[in-house]
Amino acid sequence: MSYVQLSHVMKKFGNVVAIEDLNLSIERGECFSMLGPSGCRKTTTLRMIAGFEDLDGGEIRVGERILSSQAKNFYLPPEKRNFGMVFQAFAVWPHMSVFNNVAFPLQIGKLGKQEIERRTREALKHTNLLGVADKSPDDLSGGGKQRVALARALAINPDVMLLDEPLSSLDPHLREEMRFEIKALQRKFGFSIIYVTHDQSEAMALSDRIMVMKQGVIQQIDTPLNIYNQPANQFVFSFIGLSNQLQVSCDSQGIRFPDVEGSYAIHPAPPAELQSQGKAVLACRPSEIDFVTQGGVPGYVKRRSYLGEVIDYNILVGNQELRIQKGRRSNGPQEGENCQLSFSKLQWYQQEKHTENGGG
Ligand SMILES: Nc1ncnc2c1ncn2[C@@H]1O[C@H](COP(=O)(O)OP(=O)(O)OP(=O)(O)O)[C@@H](O)[C@H]1O
Ligand SMILES: [Mg+2]
Repeated sequence: MSYVQLSHVMKKFGNVVAIEDLNLSIERGECFSMLGPSGCRKTTTLRMIAGFEDLDGGEIRVGERILSSQAKNFYLPPEKRNFGMVFQAFAVWPHMSVFNNVAFPLQIGKLGKQEIERRTREALKHTNLLGVADKSPDDLSGGGKQRVALARALAINPDVMLLDEPLSSLDPHLREEMRFEIKALQRKFGFSIIYVTHDQSEAMALSDRIMVMKQGVIQQIDTPLNIYNQPANQFVFSFIGLSNQLQVSCDSQGIRFPDVEGSYAIHPAPPAELQSQGKAVLACRPSEIDFVTQGGVPGYVKRRSYLGEVIDYNILVGNQELRIQKGRRSNGPQEGENCQLSFSKLQWYQQEKHTENGGG
């Protein structure tokens, strides 16, 4: 059953339409990520859900409750939405103790002193901050400060937690650790999470479902696995994970690669529509290409490097480069050697139309 629901949401900045018609629903207790490149309107969407931005069209609901409605000219203020919020910048008050940072939003409400104290301690306990409750957040590391922001969001006992790149200012190790902490808190308290990030591995690790967005338009909403294995289009394919995209031509004989002798049978073949255009983009993950001993597409190992668990190959196929990654125990060709490649699990896309000779 859908819980947070955006219906026909429109947002303009001045005369510019930033989001035209956004429709999505998030389940109760779900971890839902909004993923996309910088400027794709992730924060704008989150701010509309939080109530910091009004709408130029459409409606936002939680369950049966309307939060924002352009038609009804109704906006529930952010503090009445019962959403916890954590943003990228450390939004903590250095002149207040950690304890007071967390207690402060509760003091605005109608809670009694004892209840405020209880909830604050509880939130500090679950974020491992009880020991530093009397310190200033400035005495804490970046991770500590972000834990204070998390504790403050937790203390209001939110229905939904809105997180906007909350870990991006932390170092990679801490970032990974805090992902699991956020996930554990969600399991314990059962709130929904709406998580904004442009880091695809973060979205993959945390989410039940990921929405990939481009310029305010949803490209795909799906599980991390499906987003990776069955990308809805070339944008999603190239945004998620490492990707190879080779320009090829195709005819009844098979597939031809620029500057490579011969044509090759590749399965599955491009769809009829692309066949009839005579050209296509062969898109394939670095892990889905194998070295074979005969009948493969010829390549040349330009670079071979160990990345710990995997060996990363930079291969030239004619005039195009591609990446292949294999387990560190695998047998592959050496740098400077020729090789042959077979492709599996590939996607076919249309080549972008561009005019040669610089014509209009
Ligand atoms: N209040 C505003 N007035 C005018 N333009 C705005 C306003 N807020 C955002 N924008 C513009 O809308 C676009 C989308 O911004 P938004 O912050 O939602 O993107 P984002 O996906 O969160 O990007 P990032 O990953 O960089 O945080 C940006 O180009 C931004 O300049
Ligand atoms: Mg943003």
